[in-house]
Formats: sequence, C-alpha cells, structure tokens
Amino acid sequence: MVNQNTPREIDLNRLKEIVSSYEEQRWSLIPLVQAIQEEFGFIPPPAVPVIAGRLKIFPSEVQGVVSFYTQLYTEPRGKNIVRVCRGTACHVRGGKTILKLVKRQLELEENETSEDLEYTLETVACLGVCALSPTMVINNRVYGHMNPKRVKEIFKQKEAQP
Ligand code: FES
Repeated sequence: MVNQNTPREIDLNRLKEIVSSYEEQRWSLIPLVQAIQEEFGFIPPPAVPVIAGRLKIFPSEVQGVVSFYTQLYTEPRGKNIVRVCRGTACHVRGGKTILKLVKRQLELEENETSEDLEYTLETVACLGVCALSPTMVINNRVYGHMNPKRVKEIFKQKEAQP
C-alpha cells in the first residue's frame, strides 16, 4: 500500500531553495540528499533532476546514491516506524506469529506505509535485545516478551493517543 494523495506532493520552491544552498560540487551530493530527506522525510522523485542540474552530474548518479543507501527513502514514511524482529531468538519464541498479527492489526505488509502515514512496517534481523524475545520496536521504544494480547493492547493504546 503506497500513499497516493498525501505528502508525496512537496513544496518545489522549498526543494529548490535547499538545493541552491549547496555548492555546485559533486561532493555536495550526500549532504544535499540528507538535507532533503530531513526536510521532506524522503527523497521525492522530482528532486533527482533538480539535484543533478545543480551539481552538474547525471540524474542516474543521483538515483544511484539514493537507491544505494538504505537510510535514504524514496517513498514517504509513517509517523510511527514499527520494526518487528525476525531474528532466530525471536523466531523460536513465536516472532513469526507476532509479525503476522502486527501485519493484520496495521493492515500492512512489510515495508509498506499506511495511507494516512501513521505507520510504516518493517522487519529487522535482530534488535539486539534477544533476552526479551520476541520483540518489536515502535520508533525508539522496545516492546519485549510480545504475545498476541500485547500486540492488540499496544496498537489500541497508540490509536487512543491524540
Ligand atoms: S533475535 Fe530478536 S532481538 Fe535478537
């Protein structure tokens, strides 16, 4: 599910303003794409030719960098990033079921963002807190010893928040 009508549309003037504040040098590429992501939350496709024009490089080079770094996003992301662990420790303690339930609860598949931009669902190889398995993280908060009841409670609480 990709969001078709919300903040994919970006303020092009703001984009141009950011781009023109960087030197016309190839080495500006990484800091520039980072600045754009910081502003918009992702690298909008119309940014690619604008960046390339400013730095006098091919759009394919810009695209190459944007797709190379996993920390750079080409789609808008949710306000809440949910990461469910699929590492071995979590897997043997029911992580697969937790993932299934989170998917159902959010009506999202992995790497999808909800239409309202509330949630993005991702999985990770290990969250580094195996003793708490099965685990998940919402933004920076770790949720350990997950079970079906907790999945429901956590998302119910989140929905109740203003
Ligand atoms: S395997 Fe899930 S936290 Fe390490």
